[in-house]
Amino acid sequence: MAEQYNFGVIGLGGRGHGNLMEFLKADGVRVAAVCDQYADRVKAAADSVEKEYGYRPTEYTDYKALLARDDIGAVLVFTTWITHSRIALDCMLAGKHVAVEVGGSASVEECWQLVRTSESTGKFCMLLENCCYDRYEMALFNMKQLGLFGEVVHCQGAYQHDLRDEILHGRENRHGRLFNFMNRNGELYPTHQFGPICKLLGINRGNRIVSLVSMASPARGLNAYARKQHPDGYDLEDYKFTEGDVVTTMLKCAHGETILLTHECTLPRPYSRGYRIDGTKGAYTEDDNQIYFDGVSPHEQWEPVLPYIEKYEHPLWKEYFVKGVHGGHGGMDFLVLSAFAEAAMNNVAPPIDVYDTAVWMCVTALSEQSIAMGSHPVPVPDFTNGLWIDREPYRRGRYCLEEVCTEFYDVN
Ligand SMILES: NC(=O)c1ccc[n+]([C@@H]2O[C@H](COP(=O)([O-])OP(=O)(O)OC[C@H]3O[C@@H](n4cnc5c(N)ncnc54)[C@H](O)[C@@H]3O)[C@@H](O)[C@H]2O)c1
Repeated sequence: MAEQYNFGVIGLGGRGHGNLMEFLKADGVRVAAVCDQYADRVKAAADSVEKEYGYRPTEYTDYKALLARDDIGAVLVFTTWITHSRIALDCMLAGKHVAVEVGGSASVEECWQLVRTSESTGKFCMLLENCCYDRYEMALFNMKQLGLFGEVVHCQGAYQHDLRDEILHGRENRHGRLFNFMNRNGELYPTHQFGPICKLLGINRGNRIVSLVSMASPARGLNAYARKQHPDGYDLEDYKFTEGDVVTTMLKCAHGETILLTHECTLPRPYSRGYRIDGTKGAYTEDDNQIYFDGVSPHEQWEPVLPYIEKYEHPLWKEYFVKGVHGGHGGMDFLVLSAFAEAAMNNVAPPIDVYDTAVWMCVTALSEQSIAMGSHPVPVPDFTNGLWIDREPYRRGRYCLEEVCTEFYDVN
C-alpha cells in the first residue's frame, strides 16, 4: 500500500459525494476533510467515509477553514459552475494543488486568474474532464496517433443530455444549473467533448484555438416540460428562460482545423456527446458508433467501431479491464481521479494543466459574448502567452493525454 496523502473535498452534491467515494479507491488517497455549505451533505459524506473506511474526515461548512489546514496537500472542488474558479484560486493561494469538476467559466478574466495564480504559486489546477479517459475516446486517440485518420481537419462534439427534470426543479432539489439557464445564453457545458478534441488536435502544444462564433435557438423546452409535468400550474411555466435549447459553437484552430460544439439539455432526446472525427484517411461518428477508413472499409459504407476499439485499445484500458473496471460513467471517473491523485501525490505536472483548463472553460464566457453580439466571431485568448509554439516537453506517464506512453504499462 502506498504512503497516504491527505486531500480535501469541497462540494458534496450528488457528484461530489459520488466522486469522493470513488476517489478513495485510488492508491494512497486519504480524504482528511470534507466541506459543503449544507451541513446535512457534509454529514452524509463523512458518514459514508466512516462506514466504508472506518475513519471520519473533519467536517466543514466554510471551505476557507478547510484550506487553512497545513496537513492537506491538494483539494478537489465539486461545487457549482460559478464557484469553481474562485474556490480553485483560494486553494492555490493556500498552497494546495487543485482539481475542479467540469463546467464553463463566467468570464475570460477568471481563466486568466487561474493561469496567473497557478504560475505564481507553482500549484497546478486540473480540470477533471473524465471524458478524456473514456474507453472510446482513448482508443480513438490511439488510432489518431497511429495515423489511421490521416490529417484530422474537423471534429464535432456535443453535450446532448435531457436534464429537464434536474434543471427545472433546481430550487426543490438545491441544484445549481437552473439559475444559469434562467440568466445566461451560451455553450454552458463545453468540455466533455471539447477536452478530448483539444487533446486530439494538439491544442496548447503546437496548435491553439483562435476564434469562435456561437448561435442559440429559442428556449422552449423547459416551458413545455413544466406544463407537461405540472398540469395544475407551476410558477416557471411561462418564465422566459435565456438559455437557448440548442446552442451551436464553431471554433477555428491556428492550423485551420474547425470544431463544432452543440449544447442541448432542455429538449427530449437520448444522451450523446456527438463525437465526430474527419480526417484525410478516415472518419468516426458517434451516431451508431461507426467508423470508415479509405481503402479499408467497404466502399462508402460505415463499419461498426467496436472491433477497431478492441484492436486499438489504449493500454490504460487494457490494464483496467484486467484489474476490473469500476465506478461511474463506465469507469472513466476513476481514471481521471487517479490521474489527479498521481500528479498531486508526486508533485508533478498533471495531464490536464491550467492552460488546458483555461481554454476549455473560456468557451462558455466567449460563446455568451458571441451570442450577445448577434453571433459575432470573438477571439480566443492564448493563455500560454505564445508558449504553445514552443512548450516544455509534457510529462510522460500512465495518464498522459498527449501521447500513448507504452513504456508505463504491463499490458501493451
Ligand atoms: N464530469 C461529469 O461527468 C459530471 C457529472 C455530473 C456533474 N458534474 C459537475 O459536477 C459539479 C457538481 O455537480 P452536482 O450535480 O453535484 O451539483 P450540485 O449543485 O448538486 O452540488 C454542488 C454542491 O456544491 C456546494 N457548494 C456551492 N458553493 C459552495 C461553497 N462556496 N462552499 C461549499 N460548498 C459549496 C453546494 O452546496 C452543493 O451541495 C458541477 O460542475 C457539474 O457540472 C460533472
